[in-house]
Amino acid sequence: ELSPIDKAKFVAAKRATDYVEDGMRVGLGTGSTAAWMVRCLGEMVREQGLRIKGVPTSTRTAQLAQDVGIEVVSLDAAKWLDVTIDGADEFDGNLNLIKGGGGALLQEKIVATASDQMIVIADVGKEVETLGAFPLPVEVVPFGWQTTQALIEETLVSMDVLGRSTTLRMNGAAPFMTDEGNHILDLHLKRIGDARQLAMVLNQMPGVVENGLFIDICDAVVVGFGDGRVEVRD
Ligand code: A5P
Repeated sequence: ELSPIDKAKFVAAKRATDYVEDGMRVGLGTGSTAAWMVRCLGEMVREQGLRIKGVPTSTRTAQLAQDVGIEVVSLDAAKWLDVTIDGADEFDGNLNLIKGGGGALLQEKIVATASDQMIVIADVGKEVETLGAFPLPVEVVPFGWQTTQALIEETLVSMDVLGRSTTLRMNGAAPFMTDEGNHILDLHLKRIGDARQLAMVLNQMPGVVENGLFIDICDAVVVGFGDGRVEVRD
């Protein structure tokens, strides 16, 4: 028996498989919600003969996809994707997102951008009026990361945000390392007034590889509820 939150994640993931048709190239997201979707697609491959090529957004998802029987190919082999299905940490009424709680934001953004459609799957608890309560992940190269952090903090002063503190994400005693060998700074902004502007400013800084704001990338959010209901925002 699933807890209400897992039920919400599961029903959203299951419904999102409706966007997948035979022969498609599918971007596979990362996180606990996306894992449900990968398991559902695996079942469709094994039991209904669905033929898809999956492009994973992390080594974790690649492993899971292989385990459940999905053919895994690289993004460069697939070249372009029909649809990407991924989770999110927050989404707003304009379908803008914060992602990267799981640390895979860079591959997630590359894969989602290379797709005809990006479908987000999320429990209703991720829906917000304004982005920013969830700390915004920013992927930075290890070289000079403290200098990059100082530059970010300085820049935040002139941005339309409430909080300004930033923290280096850790993995035990060592800095968290992304699949691409970078670090993550989490920006505790509380409220992001102008997400589009912030995303552009962050990505112009030397040392910043990518940020977790997904602006105008998502096409629909499939929202799951603890009682098993599903709503689609598009
Ligand atoms: C991974 O880097 C994130 O972008 C995930 O999509 C996000 O953290 C959602 O994860 P859950 O589905 O586990 O909440």
